[in-house]
Amino acid sequence: MTDHTTAPPSDLERVSTGSAGLDAILRGGLPRGGLYLIEGRPGTGKTILAGQVCFAHLAAGGRALYVTLLTESHSRMLAQLRTLAFYDAAAVGESLYFLSATRPLEAEGPRGVLDLVRQVIRERGATLLVIDGVAAVREAATGLEFKRFLQDVQALLESTGATGLLLAAPVGGAVAPEQTMADGIITLHDRQFGAYDELQLEVVKCRATAYLRGRHSVEITAAGLVVHPRTEVRYAARPAPPPAAEAQLGFGAPGLDALLGGGPRAGSVTVALGSPGTGKTNLGLQFLAAGVRAGERGLHFGAYEAPPRLLAEAGRLGLDLGDAANRGLLELVWRPALGVSLDALAEELLAAVARHRPARTVVDGLDAFGHAALEQERLPRFLAALFQQLRGHGVTTLALREQQEFFGPAAPIPLNGAAELADNVVFLRTAELHGRLRRFVAVLKLGEGNPDPAIRELRFTGAGIDVAGGFGNAEAILTGMARLPASGDAATTDAGTVPRGGSHAADDPGRG
Ligand SMILES: Nc1ncnc2c1ncn2[C@@H]1O[C@H](COP(=O)(O)OP(=O)(O)OP(=O)(O)O)[C@@H](O)[C@H]1O
Ligand SMILES: [Mg+2]
Repeated sequence: MTDHTTAPPSDLERVSTGSAGLDAILRGGLPRGGLYLIEGRPGTGKTILAGQVCFAHLAAGGRALYVTLLTESHSRMLAQLRTLAFYDAAAVGESLYFLSATRPLEAEGPRGVLDLVRQVIRERGATLLVIDGVAAVREAATGLEFKRFLQDVQALLESTGATGLLLAAPVGGAVAPEQTMADGIITLHDRQFGAYDELQLEVVKCRATAYLRGRHSVEITAAGLVVHPRTEVRYAARPAPPPAAEAQLGFGAPGLDALLGGGPRAGSVTVALGSPGTGKTNLGLQFLAAGVRAGERGLHFGAYEAPPRLLAEAGRLGLDLGDAANRGLLELVWRPALGVSLDALAEELLAAVARHRPARTVVDGLDAFGHAALEQERLPRFLAALFQQLRGHGVTTLALREQQEFFGPAAPIPLNGAAELADNVVFLRTAELHGRLRRFVAVLKLGEGNPDPAIRELRFTGAGIDVAGGFGNAEAILTGMARLPASGDAATTDAGTVPRGGSHAADDPGRG
């Protein structure tokens, strides 16, 4: 499928930023020859980003000149850059040249800085110019001097073909000349969300290219700035939906598949909602096991149980997934969603799908995305984009989601964001009947078809999961408190009589 984020719509040559995410936001990188402002409060990563652009530029065969003005000393700056993976000691002093312009600024003002930069950029044959601390020039300038300085820098870039970066803290209130004159502005924001904070990057403007709008989450790691484009913006231009697939990918459980009209359609998204302990994880393992038996590739993307525990659980259900995992047919990706951005999670899931090309994917669970979302209002659009990407990959997805109600007389049909966006919705719940907790399953939504309105008991056997009969006479099972009619007849169904306090529950290994 096409990734709408990488094809540069303009034919201007691009300068990579050294960050795949930022390059995707800029549709290929910074248009060559422009003057760009990297703006952010102290410590938001401006110098690291500029360093990253420099080293990526050197790696692509370019040469860079890094000018500092009343900023940290070169040795301190290098001490920080040296800790980062992109740092290349051999290039420093040679194809990356550091220059302090503080003296000429103090002695001759903006003119002095410009003369020095003009001389060294030519001497060094630099194709990338960074001016770190450009606010010092603004503060030292009088009248129109600073605007003229910026104009002269732009003229210098034009005559040398170099690309320029200005680094500055944002000025409060008024619009600064560097903001007006720059061809593009990249702003770094440090945002607080209660006890959490997140570094975010926003392209505020960029001439000569389209770019992804909005704020994108950023991590500073040993690899430098890692930028995660906002999923719902990145995939806003939806890929053409894959041809309607006739194939159905079942659970390998006749009763359950019958309830699902034969099983989920290839390329569809099924959301299984259920409270803790209703068997969601097991349902996921069953779904993957059915695929593995048919020789299909499977992916389990889980935020909770680590792979060894999942394989052990599958074993208790009588499903052998270990062999498929060893053979590489089944991939288990364990990604605890702690301290990770929503978009980083989506990237990992989609990258695993693109790499492993599974026929089936289980996401356990969607709650992890909810926990990672610092801005909850994003979730519906985020999930819409994520589901659309999964469909575009042609993978059949089962996404599990915790539903918090345990028991209660009200029977809320929990169609929240995820369920509305899914093709199929399966609802799992536990209910008490004859003094025992039983698990029930109902299909709330079924693609184009009409779901079977029956509520069935979910049973865990030594050979996976299947549904037993429904509870034709039991009322209000969805409320969590099943009742039988006063006659006291056993709950009978088309599948036969459901044993009261039956022994099947004793060997039930299940959990949620
Ligand atoms: N290896 C690393 N892993 C994670 N964070 C790091 C790493 N190295 C540096 N940082 C973080 O990067 C930030 C500093 O980035 P940088 O020096 O680029 O900021 P800046 O915007 O240039 O600041 P100033 O305006 O003060 O010059 C600090 O918050 C620091 O904690
Ligand atoms: Mg800095």
